[in-house]
Amino acid sequence: MNSKSRIGNAARLAGWIAAATVAIGFVPSTPAWAKTSSATPVLSASAMAVADEFSADAAQRIFKEGGNAIDAAVAVAFTLAVTYPEAGNIGGGGFMTLYVNGKPYFMDYRERAPLAATKDMYLDKDGNVIKGMSLVGMRAVGVPGTVEGMWEVQKRFGKLSWKQVLAPAIHYARDGFEVSEQLQQRRDASAKDFGDQTNFGQYFGQLKAGEIFKQPQLAATLTRIANQGVKGFYEGKTAQLIAASMKAHGGLITQQDLHDYRAVWRQPVEADWNGYRVITAPPPSSGGIGLVQLLKMKADLKSDFTGVKLDSPQYIHLVAEIEKRVFADRAQYLGDPDFYKVPIAQLTDDAYIAKRAAEVDPQKPSDTKSVQPGLGTSMPEKAETTHFSIVDKWGNAVSNTYTLNGYFGSGEVVDGTGIILNDEMDDFSAKPGVANMFGVVGSDANSIEPKKRPLSSMTPTILTKDGKVAMVIGTPGGSRIFTSIFQVITNVYDFHMSLPDAVAAMRFHHQLLPPNTIFWEPYKPIEGELAQELEAKGYVLKGQNFNGDIQVIKVDGAAPEAVADPRGRGVTRTVQ
Ligand code: DON
Repeated sequence: MNSKSRIGNAARLAGWIAAATVAIGFVPSTPAWAKTSSATPVLSASAMAVADEFSADAAQRIFKEGGNAIDAAVAVAFTLAVTYPEAGNIGGGGFMTLYVNGKPYFMDYRERAPLAATKDMYLDKDGNVIKGMSLVGMRAVGVPGTVEGMWEVQKRFGKLSWKQVLAPAIHYARDGFEVSEQLQQRRDASAKDFGDQTNFGQYFGQLKAGEIFKQPQLAATLTRIANQGVKGFYEGKTAQLIAASMKAHGGLITQQDLHDYRAVWRQPVEADWNGYRVITAPPPSSGGIGLVQLLKMKADLKSDFTGVKLDSPQYIHLVAEIEKRVFADRAQYLGDPDFYKVPIAQLTDDAYIAKRAAEVDPQKPSDTKSVQPGLGTSMPEKAETTHFSIVDKWGNAVSNTYTLNGYFGSGEVVDGTGIILNDEMDDFSAKPGVANMFGVVGSDANSIEPKKRPLSSMTPTILTKDGKVAMVIGTPGGSRIFTSIFQVITNVYDFHMSLPDAVAAMRFHHQLLPPNTIFWEPYKPIEGELAQELEAKGYVLKGQNFNGDIQVIKVDGAAPEAVADPRGRGVTRTVQ
């Protein structure tokens, strides 16, 4: 595949996703830990919406065995690595927002740049970005974090044994699972893109819709992880095989990189909005800050929004004006907080957001060049993803988004392990001002450095009200992630739409660059009069194949309602 077709592939973002939402209520046996007053069952029913039937079955089995939302989440994550290989993974990374016994937590298991990575590693001798190098092949791979992330959360909050939560995934890898049409379509498209640049075809060549696909090498790898814990991935045989594969095919990751990898517990971004507590992703995600800015700016502009109909030209204009300012800040200030002091408090400060909202021009699009990062120049410059959400009967919640970045990541499978590797290095800013696969630019805050995490847009989010979970939401979609979540949240709470309607409603996206461009989706296109009116306002309209695959649970009182985005292949189940 040439780099151009791979970049064109970005338009098929929808395929890079496994989206799963699980809300499970009463289970037959109550584990001892749940018999404390803080763990009284709070849900009257259970509901489930997951990326595929296999991960749903896995979660259900875990709950039946007495597990909680965290156990179920870990089982789902490992299962999707087998049955949803275009996005589910152990060779990638992600974020998990948790609400456990009434307290918020955040696990960052994002990939890190290898020790041998350099700032200019994707530039040619003239300083130009080499197209495709951060997207395809071993050079595109960041040090995976998923296994350590799952290990950390399960060790801290899980109730079952590590082996129990790995068991469903091992079963599907060893005994196989029936391949869906969609998986085969995505495999076919990716095989064409990767061509002979990677070993993708060798590993996934046998995958065929309607037939059973077995992955004995992956089963052996998962069994090592089940038996040895986190060391079964980052040390010993698996680590040796990863390092050997890297060396053989021009990659940078060594056993030292794997040994050094650490997932990190971080403070989630939290904000009060509209009577809810928003608990969401901190840096190295841009998504949580972006979401809070979007929600609060819209609230600040209440008088401008009053009487403005959803999806009218004026509504789209006002939201685009807000998004412009959010993406200007994103490009300048956001990166890995372990390397660069991200001004989280300033960027989410009410007075700052109100000042930004006041810059919105209610009449016409602001000139793109005039929209600068909002904290002034004093800030130093240096300094198919998958979502699933789970609520258990005790009121604990998990909102998890993890990814290989593109469909099947880098297209490289580690020899002898069945591990498909990410291409997350593309989320770094290879050169300031040069857009990545999602069309977003970055500054030095997101430049490449050894052990640094690339800036993400993944935004696993939980809303609480009076200390109880009110909504668990997330989606894949690269830079469209937090604008999609914003639209669904406001559809529900500002426009009072039913949850299915809120999820199915039209979505659109603007991200400062390209100038005044509104992206629309085929699911509910911007066309006809609406298109004409927006064009008359000065907007350029651009179709894209994807604008998220929301998976959401809303809890009203004691009843959870789960909805899987009709754009995706998620399913819902309700259990009384
Ligand atoms: O971390 C990020 O923002 C991206 N790597 C996520 C990729 C993604 O959502 C692809 N899915 N459509």
